[in-house]
Amino acid sequence: MKTRKIGIIGLGHVGAHVAYSLAIQGIADELVLVDQKAQKLESERQDLADSVAYLPHRVKITAGGFADLGDCDVIVNSTGKIELLETHDRLSEMDFTIAAVRSYAGKIKASGFDGVLLNITNPCDIVTRELALMLGLPRGRVFGTGTGLDTSRLLSALSRQTGIDHKSITAYMMGEHGAQQFAPWSCVSFRGVPLDEWAKTDERFRFDREALKKESIAGGWVTYAGKQCTEYGIATTAARMVSIILHDEKAIMPASMELCGEYGESGLFAGVPCLIGANGVEKVIELPLTDEEMREFHACCDGIRKNMEHLSEI
Ligand code: LAC
Repeated sequence: MKTRKIGIIGLGHVGAHVAYSLAIQGIADELVLVDQKAQKLESERQDLADSVAYLPHRVKITAGGFADLGDCDVIVNSTGKIELLETHDRLSEMDFTIAAVRSYAGKIKASGFDGVLLNITNPCDIVTRELALMLGLPRGRVFGTGTGLDTSRLLSALSRQTGIDHKSITAYMMGEHGAQQFAPWSCVSFRGVPLDEWAKTDERFRFDREALKKESIAGGWVTYAGKQCTEYGIATTAARMVSIILHDEKAIMPASMELCGEYGESGLFAGVPCLIGANGVEKVIELPLTDEEMREFHACCDGIRKNMEHLSEI
């Protein structure tokens, strides 16, 4: 009987909530927790273990090291230094997080890990690429939550605006999990009908698109302002992606994925709609973007590439 074993690296606000989300949703059978702060690690292990009796099913919770990750189906990477985000720019973590993943990627590899690694650590698109390069797993087996979370924020705004349930809306945020992202409105539909069609007859759909885009981008900072972190949105996004992988759902979610010619881009990771299954991202979905939307996407990619230039200085 195959058990679903998930490793979590980094038990800060995000990692701890990912662990709890995987446990309370009954997604994981076993959680292996890894963190350099021994007391924090033991606290999270104990606290999670204290919930097991009343979970949907029993979950084995262990605290371990990188060597214990080798037989995990999925590893969620969520190291970070949240206080660096006071600048409200995810790039401000880059020096710390890139150095961190460079310090332990080899240990993940040495464990014999051959599953899927889902990266949350910011700047997500750049850190995901760094991990993919260092782990050398087949393409798609390392990807990031990226604009998957931003899309959740957009879906909530669209649902509030139109009264239509999130799951009846098709919409994506694309580009950087950061300030450089956009919503290709030409590809947004509600109950299968394009936004532009709805807007012809229903004023609920004649909303300020730029405002909703900005609301989606700013959502993380609204959350951060009052508690200096984000937890539920990112944890649920990651848990959903892990579930899709474990159940080989072939479901589509926006994620931070390597581009090898898709959308005319290569050599970077960016937020694009991805078909996700047991092997991680199995296909990048190329939406029929308008010329203007393609220009926006290329501008996002140019921004990510510019930020990547700093990698040589770390
Ligand atoms: C956020 C963090 C995870 O957007 O980047 O909530």
